[in-house]
Amino acid sequence: MPAPQKRVLTGRLLTFFERPQHAKAAESYGYWSDGALAIEAGKIVWRGALADLPDRYRDWPITDHSENLVLPGFIDAHTHYPQMEVIGSYGEQLLDWLETYTFRHEARFEDPEHAALIADAFLEELIQHGVTTAAVYATSHQGSTAAFFEAAAARKMCMIGGKVLMDRQAPAEICDTPERAYEETKQLISAWHGKDRLSYAITPRFAITSSAEQMAVVQSLITEHPSCYVQTHLSENLFEISETLRLYPEAEDYTGVYEAYGLLGPKALFGHCIHLSERERRVLAESQSVAVFCPSSNLFLGSGLFDYEGLKQAGIPIAFGSDVGAGTSCSMLATAADAYKICQLRGYSLNPLESFYHLTRGNAEALSLEASVGTLEVGTEADLVVLDSQATHAMSTRMQTVSSLAEELFVLQTLGDDRAIAETYIAGQAHKSKSRITQEN
Ligand code: GUN
Ligand code: ZN
Repeated sequence: MPAPQKRVLTGRLLTFFERPQHAKAAESYGYWSDGALAIEAGKIVWRGALADLPDRYRDWPITDHSENLVLPGFIDAHTHYPQMEVIGSYGEQLLDWLETYTFRHEARFEDPEHAALIADAFLEELIQHGVTTAAVYATSHQGSTAAFFEAAAARKMCMIGGKVLMDRQAPAEICDTPERAYEETKQLISAWHGKDRLSYAITPRFAITSSAEQMAVVQSLITEHPSCYVQTHLSENLFEISETLRLYPEAEDYTGVYEAYGLLGPKALFGHCIHLSERERRVLAESQSVAVFCPSSNLFLGSGLFDYEGLKQAGIPIAFGSDVGAGTSCSMLATAADAYKICQLRGYSLNPLESFYHLTRGNAEALSLEASVGTLEVGTEADLVVLDSQATHAMSTRMQTVSSLAEELFVLQTLGDDRAIAETYIAGQAHKSKSRITQEN
């Protein structure tokens, strides 16, 4: 039977209007305990209380999620699809982890068949975890980047991706040159940027692996394609910072390298941002560049504790990312759980409403996508996650003592995993229940 173009979903609806400043910030979100969403041609056309559902939607097919929470699909602002097979590689910090495991592995993506296989596996894993949008690094191979976009287009997903640019300090098989970086990025932008629900991110890996000549190419690409994103890594690890300043001796600090080549701005996504000086914070805030908090990765590689409260006070836009494969899971629930623990270590109790805002509307705003995803507003795409707070024995036991929405969200992020994702909708179509992986479980 073909999937319905028109449908109504019922459930407990939750969507955010702004960043909640505390655990009782009721004005920051909309919650309908008996809610309904009407969806037509992949978009939300009505949302509210089921009792108020207008007559014209009442004979549309209904899918009942009334026991569960229905939220906008989760968004991951920083992840690496080719690193699915690197997750959980033992014993190293950043630069040794890259050299020992990651670079060697990324060399395999020269083979477009391998790239296509892993791109499929990666997107299916995101769907298992209720993640419907992500900002994704491919490898330095043009074919592996195209494979990612093809896999995303086949699923009608809203995805940002880019070919990694790197021309030094790494094995030859995964290095390009400034000329190839320019040509291949141009071709990929023209093939994929703005096609279906896809956007391109100009993706220099980080300053260590890009020569000054390549950074100049990055600057030209940004100038020629101002609607593209920029994504890279910044200030993740202390040894990485000292190596960067050794390779760019004229730079005042790490951020200064990217500043000199025109990378900063509201469409620039800087992964990590852990060890920033006051000056670096100031220029990131002034340019409204986005700091992407990747807590699971930061704990796994022992990189350091992101100063969530400090960066927020400084006025720097913050997004959340899994950073797989240094991050250990594609789950944004697990990402929020690790974010909470890092904030605790810095004396700040990140409240669950604020975390779920980040996983949905907050990340959409940080990616300038809030007009189409990240909320349940009428006119946006029906990319949705359905959450079951009773999915496991431990969760249903814990839920017996829960009396507020914020507490329920906290149980979901602390105890939940892919079993708590009851369904994932992309453009109004159920994907998780249709997935090969789910059926094998
Ligand atoms: N810095 C440069 N490349 C990488 C990467 O692949 N992962 C992480 N976590 N940091 C990086
Ligand atoms: Zn990364």
